[in-house]
Amino acid sequence: MTLEYKVKDISLHEAGRHQIRLAEHEMPGLMALRSEFGASQPLAGARIAGSLHMTVQTAVLIETLVALGAQVRWASCNIFSTQDEAAAAVVVGAGTPENPQGIPVFAWKGETLEEYWWTAEQILTWPGADQDPSVGPNMILDDGGDATLLVHKGVEFEAAGAVPAATDEDSHEYRIILDVLRVDQAVDPQKWTRIAGGIKGVSEETTTGVHRLYQLAEQGKLLFPAINVNDAVTKSKFDNKYGIRHSLPDGINRATDVLIGGKVAVVCGYGDVGKGAAEALRGQGARVIVTEIDPICALQAAMDGYQVARLESVLRQGDLFITTTGGKDIILAAHMASMKDKAIVGNVGHFDNEIDMAGLAAVPGVRKVEIKPQVHEWVFPASTGVDGAVPEHSVIVLSEGRLLNLGNATGHPSFVMSNSFANQTIAQIELWTKRDQIAGEREYENQVYVLPKILDEKVARLHLGALGVELTELTKDQAEYLGLDVAGPYKADHYRY
Ligand code: NAI
Repeated sequence: MTLEYKVKDISLHEAGRHQIRLAEHEMPGLMALRSEFGASQPLAGARIAGSLHMTVQTAVLIETLVALGAQVRWASCNIFSTQDEAAAAVVVGAGTPENPQGIPVFAWKGETLEEYWWTAEQILTWPGADQDPSVGPNMILDDGGDATLLVHKGVEFEAAGAVPAATDEDSHEYRIILDVLRVDQAVDPQKWTRIAGGIKGVSEETTTGVHRLYQLAEQGKLLFPAINVNDAVTKSKFDNKYGIRHSLPDGINRATDVLIGGKVAVVCGYGDVGKGAAEALRGQGARVIVTEIDPICALQAAMDGYQVARLESVLRQGDLFITTTGGKDIILAAHMASMKDKAIVGNVGHFDNEIDMAGLAAVPGVRKVEIKPQVHEWVFPASTGVDGAVPEHSVIVLSEGRLLNLGNATGHPSFVMSNSFANQTIAQIELWTKRDQIAGEREYENQVYVLPKILDEKVARLHLGALGVELTELTKDQAEYLGLDVAGPYKADHYRY
């Protein structure tokens, strides 16, 4: 059977393979899991629908899952985040462009939203599964929760017997989802119920997707068990913070090449991502101002030496504005209209609603000039500011308000993603190998779980050698004194790091 896939240019596979080879060297956690589990094949029988930025690092994750026995179909979780050479290399695998023997990937940089939701559907639509559900997907690996959302919405509307008509409040993107599900329902009224019935679990990568899962669980609507990978310490305290510390300036530099030193940078949100963003910008010599709604995070920012202000107070000071909140409507069109000429506006939170792009496009007389793909100058005519006459001026918006570190650069580097993806791999093994009833009891209910701390410590341990870290060993005597096991875990679950 010919391999199904859709990527930008399959001839890029060799360039992708070279990068994957180098990334493997920088991903000791994933490579150690291949050595540990390659022979026992714990993921044999798992058919994973993966929705996560199709980068070089993700290619190493995909090939690790396959090395552990899984079958995989993959899409990106963002329209701009695919590295086309990585996608091509994963498709070609050990074959040739004419005869690819790799993995079905449906991802390219610069998808339209319609194409994006088509790719999401492809990873969940396995050949022959409409006739025989036992060949359909049985696991989801998600980033941001879109694959999980599609399944849940599909099931909800099949139970209701119809897909509702869109309302005026529905976003353009939600209307596309409704359209996809409406077509499905006309052709196969039980498609999503059947798919959901086969899914044994989902492992979720990011803060935003985890938030969605907890909401579903609280409402009693979660259809399968979920592991919250984000809140593994070796994920959120590393990828979100140190990853963004690397990839945020990378994105700003590739997009604009402005000197960050001496500029005023406003970082909205001082959670894990915000902390990494602020540190990176300060490291480049910017004066950083933080905005926060949480008094604890605001106090942390102040103690770390940052000015903490409301966005409205610093609109005229900022040269760069970066959102990191995971919330919505953080930077509105009226804010952008009041910024300095050529202020740079970008987002590294998961979804594009942190910056009000629809509001920006609706400003009377505003013009959008493409500087290059994923870099746009929005020119405001004179006098559209909130506080009186303002001459014609513009802001530079990166990646159309979507994750700029992936849209304008290549996302987090391999070493930090090795931590995140080792957690993902362990979560998939955990959910898959414990999927069945054990002595009448299910190991995991339809709830959201975090991985045990001992596995978190294992992920960290796998990365120490590569950095030449000498870890001190607790003596038996010391361990007894502290009430610990020599082998860990070393901290209580509530410890915050
Ligand atoms: P977090 O919850 O640790 O931090 C978010 C912070 O934003 C919180 O401290 C919150 O109080 C603050 N906040 C919320 N609304 C605000 C508002 N209106 N104004 C100012 N501050 C506000 O979450 P985390 O882990 O930092 O993640 C943030 C976002 O970044 C999420 O959407 C997550 O999925 C995404 N993410 C993006 C990555 C990337 O590569 N670009 C990597 C990891 C996470």
